[in-house]
Amino acid sequence: MRNYLFYLAILSVLILTSCTSEKEFSMADISLIPKPQDLKLHRGSFKLNEITTWHVESEFKIASDFLQNYLKNGAGIVLKNVPKSEANIIFELDDSLPKEAYSLSISKENIIIKASDGGGAFYAVQSLRQLMPPQLEQSNTIFRKSIILPQITLFDAPAFRYRGMHLDVSRHFFSKEFIKQYISNMAMLKMNYFHWHLTDDQGWRIEIKKYPKLNSHAAFRNETLVGHYNETPQQFDGKRYGGYYTQEDIKEIVAFAAKNNVTIIPEIEMPGHSQAAISAYPELGCLREEVAVATKWGVFENIYCPTENTFTFLQDVLTEIMALFPGEYVHIGGDEAPKLQWEHCKHCQKLIKELNLKDENGLQSYFIKRIETFVNSKGKKIIGWDEILEGGLAPNATVMSWRGTQSAIDAAKEGHDVILTPNSHAYFDYYQSENQTEPLAIGGFIPLKKVYGFNPVPKELNEKETQFVLGAQGNVWTEYIETESQVEYMVFPRILAMSEVIWRGVTENIEVDYKDFVSRLESFMARMDALHINYANHLYEIEGKIQKKDGNVFYTLTTPTEGKEIRYSINDSAFKKNTTPIPIRSNCIIKANVFKNDKKVGENFTEEILYHKGLNAKVSINIPPHPAYGAGGVEALINGINGSDSRYGDKEWLGFWGDDVEITIDFGEELQLKQITTRYYNAPGQWIYAPKFIEVEDEKGLVSSAKISGLEESIKNVKIMLGIKTRYLKIRVPSYGVIPAGLQGAGNKAWTFIDEIIIE
Ligand code: ACM
Ligand code: ZN
Repeated sequence: MRNYLFYLAILSVLILTSCTSEKEFSMADISLIPKPQDLKLHRGSFKLNEITTWHVESEFKIASDFLQNYLKNGAGIVLKNVPKSEANIIFELDDSLPKEAYSLSISKENIIIKASDGGGAFYAVQSLRQLMPPQLEQSNTIFRKSIILPQITLFDAPAFRYRGMHLDVSRHFFSKEFIKQYISNMAMLKMNYFHWHLTDDQGWRIEIKKYPKLNSHAAFRNETLVGHYNETPQQFDGKRYGGYYTQEDIKEIVAFAAKNNVTIIPEIEMPGHSQAAISAYPELGCLREEVAVATKWGVFENIYCPTENTFTFLQDVLTEIMALFPGEYVHIGGDEAPKLQWEHCKHCQKLIKELNLKDENGLQSYFIKRIETFVNSKGKKIIGWDEILEGGLAPNATVMSWRGTQSAIDAAKEGHDVILTPNSHAYFDYYQSENQTEPLAIGGFIPLKKVYGFNPVPKELNEKETQFVLGAQGNVWTEYIETESQVEYMVFPRILAMSEVIWRGVTENIEVDYKDFVSRLESFMARMDALHINYANHLYEIEGKIQKKDGNVFYTLTTPTEGKEIRYSINDSAFKKNTTPIPIRSNCIIKANVFKNDKKVGENFTEEILYHKGLNAKVSINIPPHPAYGAGGVEALINGINGSDSRYGDKEWLGFWGDDVEITIDFGEELQLKQITTRYYNAPGQWIYAPKFIEVEDEKGLVSSAKISGLEESIKNVKIMLGIKTRYLKIRVPSYGVIPAGLQGAGNKAWTFIDEIIIE
């Protein structure tokens, strides 16, 4: 009896200790990004420690190597190899699973990973990694020798087979170690293609043994533009800048990428964006004249002349490139190649005649097709930016659609593979916040939610054509991104949203899914902190919106994450908690902040509202704004909020590409109108021009017009006196037209950007 009681006491102590040490997990503890297709959480946990054993089949070496290194580094745990029947962690081949898919089940006794290929097992390990405490991202953590994992069953598979990130290393150059970090972060998010933009006008960044001047000369520029291209006068820093990766560096990075299940796609730009190469070897250009490696941004007239000498050069370069990069693709650029030099070049014109080509676009098509034939003959495939469609697409080319989605639609309908990287959703060099404290960027506006709502499959494609959509990619052009930490700031967290779109698939309910994503992201910040990633945090920002109801105007304040409090003040009154929409009856300034547990988080929010006669009117327009520049909808034209003086990409400005715009305002009843003021953005460096004149009409016809001249100021405010009584007002804003010769984008249609129409 005594013995029995003794053992009972021991047993209850054991049960108690195991209960108290056994952490119970809830879904809120699990913040996997990208979110898996199917995850079930069970009660209980698995303890991974020094005595944990494993068994791995040989197909899964990169996955098991990753896990072994991760555990050793973060927790000092080395898993012991044992026969399958005795193992706690088992990696098992399951041919019934699709490519890159996996299942992961964690019970009290085992972790079982199944996949049909190395990629699937690697992604199972990435999910397992994200189930572990974020502190393990650092070495020698407090979790030494013991990690508690939730019991789960998980099945996962990618929605798209191409899940990419791009990085431009020409405009600014980044270290070999940083490139590895970039690839490693992609791999954590189950992304599998790194598109490496290695050459451009401002620098050639890869060693080519046969052409040493590409490295001694083309890899360096004499100086670099300071500030934004649009600033006048342009200023330069006077400092030589450059660098390149040696072939040894490239081999090291390629091997690193392979260990992370990432394939690298090298991009060698042609026929345009080649001024650095022409600078080293002037005979490659039509002018055969010396030019400098470019020191500012934009599109340059110097492009490769399609001579036999140029083709020999490019084939030699591509031969070295193809030997270094084992992947099946080579990106040959193809974007933004001005044809002016080809139009005036004797050789080019003779070639057009001899080959019976239609024009310079035909010559570009000939150029790309010839390169494609060469690349195909080496067993590889080309990818090109969407301009390679102009003049006829090369037979086996994959098209990367960037100026929108039309080229993806056209190419897929022709039976070509396509990758979507539209500058409406996938340009991570654009601004991600309207906050004036954001670091200088090229322009545009692509906030996190916009990336999250991206659908890589254009709705114009039918089911069969959709098969040609390989996937999508985030692009990172670095004209305005000088440092590695700035690259991270622009990439994170938008890469997380992109990874979820291309792995899990397109959201069918953005409001519900985005809320869930943002809450996982809030937890994921701890992992990014542990990884020392310099991510942007706009989760604690405020969004303000004008709303109209029954003839009254209100202002609402929201913030993306749950459980926060917004406090606001109006015209510098005392701050109070915001619970309902704020009535607006006159000009006012609203200030607000976000609080988490009574502590202010995020930046101060300020909005100036101009209360004018347009606020209660209805507005319509003859043509919708361009999809990249109409975030606020047509109502933004009369919502009492001016578009930013420095960011035409915000949600106030509406952008139109070459269209004549007619805006109709209906006041619902006749009103006495004294004047209107309209505003236009003006940034010729970015193809944006205020109109040359505007006209205002009422029901009876033309009331007044105004001429607009000069290209100096970035904002044109145009005031027109009216003195009329009318119910309707129509404002005609004709496009500036075609961009004049000698200016950036010459020959292209100008953009028109319009915001607030202030009616008094
Ligand atoms: C590009 O953005 N020029 C492809
Ligand atoms: Zn030529």
